[in-house]
Amino acid sequence: MRLLIIGSGAIGTTLAKTIQEMEEFDIFYITDKNEERAKKIAKECSKAKFISPTDESIKAHLKNVDLVVEAASQEAVQRYVPIILGMGVDVLVMSVGAFADDDVRERCFNVAKRKGGRLFVPSGAICGTDGLSSASSDVIHSVELVSTKGPKSFQDNPYLRSKGVDVNKLKEKTVLFEGSARDAVAHFPKNVNVSATISLIGIGLDKTKVKLVCDPSSDCNTHRLEVKGEFGHIVCETDNVPFPSNPATSYLAALSAISAIRRIAGNVWIGI
Ligand SMILES: NC(=O)c1ccc[n+]([C@@H]2O[C@H](COP(=O)([O-])OP(=O)(O)OC[C@H]3O[C@@H](n4cnc5c(N)ncnc54)[C@H](O)[C@@H]3O)[C@@H](O)[C@H]2O)c1
Repeated sequence: MRLLIIGSGAIGTTLAKTIQEMEEFDIFYITDKNEERAKKIAKECSKAKFISPTDESIKAHLKNVDLVVEAASQEAVQRYVPIILGMGVDVLVMSVGAFADDDVRERCFNVAKRKGGRLFVPSGAICGTDGLSSASSDVIHSVELVSTKGPKSFQDNPYLRSKGVDVNKLKEKTVLFEGSARDAVAHFPKNVNVSATISLIGIGLDKTKVKLVCDPSSDCNTHRLEVKGEFGHIVCETDNVPFPSNPATSYLAALSAISAIRRIAGNVWIGI
């Protein structure tokens, strides 16, 4: 199989090192708008080939790949995912927060339906998405997410500034936001991926409830997912270790991409 990775930051670098060791892949292409980063990976991994981050270059290489992994940004999703799917190529999207925008989501999902390229979104930084997905086959009564993070994750946030909240001055755990997932992603654009993932699997952005908590004593990103429905009751808590190279990203998110790629490349799927 052949792969193209867009983005060579925390997740892209971890993926490249894993793909290098997977016998299912003979070569993989890597690109980044920060070209030096992608070139560095191409130097370190013998299977990796750097490609230029232009639309033309990416389009030209789509003819040679079985799967594209987007590990870049919401802007990259908007720009490349419709093109990739439109050419009938499968794509795995990490910047799932892009799909909280109704227009972007409809455009990408419709191209996937019409053109046959499949769109995969891994569970990312949260556990419990398997149960939530099963539960959504019958009526779900409620989905609630409580995300607790350190002050760094909430810095320079215009919504908090407008409320007069300075997260650096907090002495104890403080609830910063409580409301719908739609409002959470609008006010906290740097904290959108988990809210978007569970909303898309479950009952949507308007009915999913989100609470964001700042814990001044914590370096972990913790997500508590609670689901009630006809099936019963799920409570699932994930304590995430952040990447040293990018504290906004949880290591589990990269592992979820690796796990998804292994499933896509293989024929035996357990616990899907
Ligand atoms: N689904 C989840 O639960 C989850 C969890 C963590 C991170 N993420 C998302 O995954 C993405 C990657 O995360 P990361 O920690 O590796 O980020 P990162 O900032 O470490 O690396 C991203 C890289 O992508 C490059 N890039 C950005 N836009 C680009 C574009 N349009 N074209 C080419 N390159 C581009 C940047 O230059 C950077 O090198 C982010 O959008 C992040 O929000 C999702």
